[in-house]
Amino acid sequence: MKFFIDTANLDQIKEAQDLGVLDGVTTNPSLMAKEGITGAENILNHYKKICEVVEGDVSAEVIATDFDGMVKEGEALAALHPQIVVKLPMIADGVKACKYFSDKGIKTNVTLVFSAGQALLAAKAGATYVSPFLGRLDDISTDGLNLVDEIRIIYDNYGFQTQILAASIRNTMHVINCAKIGADVMTGPLSSITGLLKHPLTDSGLAKFLEDYNKGN
Ligand code: G3P
Repeated sequence: MKFFIDTANLDQIKEAQDLGVLDGVTTNPSLMAKEGITGAENILNHYKKICEVVEGDVSAEVIATDFDGMVKEGEALAALHPQIVVKLPMIADGVKACKYFSDKGIKTNVTLVFSAGQALLAAKAGATYVSPFLGRLDDISTDGLNLVDEIRIIYDNYGFQTQILAASIRNTMHVINCAKIGADVMTGPLSSITGLLKHPLTDSGLAKFLEDYNKGN
């Protein structure tokens, strides 16, 4: 299972990278705005900075919602750095653009996926990644994990190579449950990764080991 961090915050990306478990980064316009990164030029520069910190794939989202606009923006994003994955919304023109980029060998991430049918379309269009938004489904009392499960079954039935990128992850249980279902990738905040470290028995066990070691010194 790959671990991506879902943020545009460079310090948090560095922290996850330093832990040695980071496989990539996902961003979106809201995450950029949260870090105060606005304006096309600043956003493009920020993507480059992210690529310099992390070794894996970095999803960069197009703003255009028409095919021609998405192709133009996506090509500019892909030209920024070899690690860039063009992130496209799950709308008709996004599916067309996904097919366009996959035919050209440019990696894609189809985002804002909320149904198995949408995920099937993304796979048919050759998406590298499909991003079902778990947390946002949970927010409206719909089981987000069930969607990941459905997509896993469908992709396995036909051997689709599109990787399931469980997105809108909010906590460690989301991560663990996605791992049990077989999501290829999870993307979440730093806390969903570092939270996996925590167990009180680890802390008390380590304290006791150190206490006993120091008895002889
Ligand atoms: O990766 C998708 C993500 O950015 C959305 O997360 O927490 O805003 O639903 P959230």
